[in-house]
Amino acid sequence: MRAWQISDSFSIDGLSCNEIPSQPPRPGEATIRVRAVSLNFRDLLVAKGLYSKKIPLPLTVCSDCAGEVAAVGEGATRFQPGDRVCVSFIPGWIDGEIDEAKARTALGAFAQGVLREELNIAESALVAFPEHLSWEEAATLPCAGVTAWNALVASGGLCANDWVLTQGSGGVSIFALQFAKALGARVIATSSSPAKLARLSELGADETIDYRATPDWEEAARKLTGGRGVDHVIEIGGAATFNKSVRAVRMGGRVSLIGNRAEGTAEPNLTAVLMKNVCVQGIFLGSRAMFESMNASVAASGIRPAVDRVFDFADAPAAFRAFETGGHFGKVCIRV
Ligand SMILES: NC(=O)c1ccc[n+]([C@@H]2O[C@H](COP(=O)([O-])OP(=O)(O)OC[C@H]3O[C@@H](n4cnc5c(N)ncnc54)[C@H](OP(=O)(O)O)[C@@H]3O)[C@@H](O)[C@H]2O)c1
Repeated sequence: MRAWQISDSFSIDGLSCNEIPSQPPRPGEATIRVRAVSLNFRDLLVAKGLYSKKIPLPLTVCSDCAGEVAAVGEGATRFQPGDRVCVSFIPGWIDGEIDEAKARTALGAFAQGVLREELNIAESALVAFPEHLSWEEAATLPCAGVTAWNALVASGGLCANDWVLTQGSGGVSIFALQFAKALGARVIATSSSPAKLARLSELGADETIDYRATPDWEEAARKLTGGRGVDHVIEIGGAATFNKSVRAVRMGGRVSLIGNRAEGTAEPNLTAVLMKNVCVQGIFLGSRAMFESMNASVAASGIRPAVDRVFDFADAPAAFRAFETGGHFGKVCIRV
């Protein structure tokens, strides 16, 4: 079987398609015939050596896939050959709270990844996905989907009519927009691109703000909520945007700290956080249980993830380069 690996040097040019042995599933495992993989910003950081230089090589890259169960090992009973499944990003996190041992099982960094033709994995890591989704659409769920679901719903307690502010048009923010709308909330979507803002409106955003053309987007967001502030912020910019998010959020509102994409740094305004009683929650993915409850909502609402481009398996490095340029709307996928 073939797998895309970083073998000896961290860089996109260092990706090579290697032949690795196929093995039967061990007891408690399933063999997945991988059909599609989606890229995350973390995959780019891992490939370029910016995530950690301590990752043991060779490393099969990427964390998010969908595929078909090809075989199950002794004692594995949750799925049968032919079932369509995703693999949970953190296979060791089934339910409850995260801890360090569970976090270490996250795929595609310190644990081997999924950009390969076949994958043997504990069957407890598998999640059935909604029938209306294609392989590529399903492959977008494990990281971006579950992260948005955790931020807004599992840990966020989203209510109908809440105002949610999303930053940018990457995978997490678009899922957050879709979940918020499906659950009756209102969305202010931001982006640096007028064309992407138009697409965010088509997906249901109630209001949009161009964060480049309107550098005081936090004030614009407050105005749109009648001066009260939004209930939730999906924080993608990180250090450079955090204080604006704290300004945009209402007293007692919530900022979900998910990414650190914006260039630049700023001292966090701790006084504003405490005086406004803001809940700042760090979000690291989510559990299999969160994945399953998200899937029930995706099935009920008919949400279709935003897939921007699909590359062939042989062109995986081109997919990484396209992702790196940042022009995408939603997810970049690889068909296996
Ligand atoms: N904590 C977790 O568990 C977790 C899970 C998934 C992802 N993440 C992180 O979340 C971030 C986003 O990931 P992703 O996969 O959704 O998308 P992505 O494709 O990496 O997101 C790129 C988008 O972010 C937006 N962006 C960049 N700088 C921004 C800024 N200053 N203000 C607002 N938006 C900005 C841009 O949107 P426009 O082009 O529309 O301007 C850009 O297209 C990454 O840092 C990623 O590592 C964290």
